Amino acid sequence: MIKPNKLVKKDFLSSLDMSTEEVNHIIELAKNLKNNHINIDYKKKVLGLIFDKSSTRTRVSFQVAMSRLGGTTIDLNPTTSQIGRGEPIKDTARVLSRYCDVIAIRTFNHSDLEEYAKWSTKPVINALTDLEHPCQALADFLTIKEEFIDFKNVILTFIGDGNNVANSLILCGALLGVEVRVACPRGYEPNPILIERARKIYKNDNLLKIMHDPDSAVRGANVLYTDVWSSMGEESKKEEKDKDFNGFTIDNDLVNKANKDAIILHCLPAYRNKEIIDAVIESDKSRIFDQAENRLHAQQALLACMFK
Ligand code: CP
Repeated sequence: MIKPNKLVKKDFLSSLDMSTEEVNHIIELAKNLKNNHINIDYKKKVLGLIFDKSSTRTRVSFQVAMSRLGGTTIDLNPTTSQIGRGEPIKDTARVLSRYCDVIAIRTFNHSDLEEYAKWSTKPVINALTDLEHPCQALADFLTIKEEFIDFKNVILTFIGDGNNVANSLILCGALLGVEVRVACPRGYEPNPILIERARKIYKNDNLLKIMHDPDSAVRGANVLYTDVWSSMGEESKKEEKDKDFNGFTIDNDLVNKANKDAIILHCLPAYRNKEIIDAVIESDKSRIFDQAENRLHAQQALLACMFK
């Protein structure tokens, strides 16, 4: 029977904080947790949650994951704690380390997350920054594995902004050897440093393609994935981005150009009929709600491997 193995690194700030073996282990453990094949008891463990940005899935899935492990969570709302008042991160991190066993943080600047991790003596998890969303990528690849059993020969096409979600898909895809294509308008490519890191990990760096034409990017693809065009904090750019992303909507025409077995993913929340049409979200190809559920199983597995 599979048992959680302790992760080598203390923190999970980036998809690259795990090795290929560790990502595969988390996915396998998550599948077993989902199917009730294992029971892990982490009574008395406490997860601290800091959300500087709104969240439904990440917050609730972490809370339920902790509850299923037998532990508890404390949701540190910045407006009702001293965090929002501007208490230095190095003070908050050291204090929370004395109370909590692990801390999950959603914030804007990735460097703030790194500052928390620097000062926290307990593991820190990236619950989304402007740079990466590695917990989302774990759930995404769990969903892909459930569908295709094996990552070999899977082509994942992300259509949209080269944002935090795209960055983590690229990094996690590189670790797992999955072909990842990103189709975005010019000027919206994923982070160039992370692209470079991913290329170094891939045994065949042709498996990562940054493209600008959605039609050619979806040809032969098994997974079509999108996210909102304007992320949290980009409200003022919405009008401009809506124009720039014209032609990058996942609609039935685009789905029909992909492989016959293609599934549809979206990390949610979605703007229906903008980056993806309503009918595609509701189609039988959509695995979007399985993907959302898998946030819970993947994070339960992640927590289990951090508490060991
Ligand atoms: N996908 C995701 O992170 O959802 P939330 O913003 O609701 O947490």
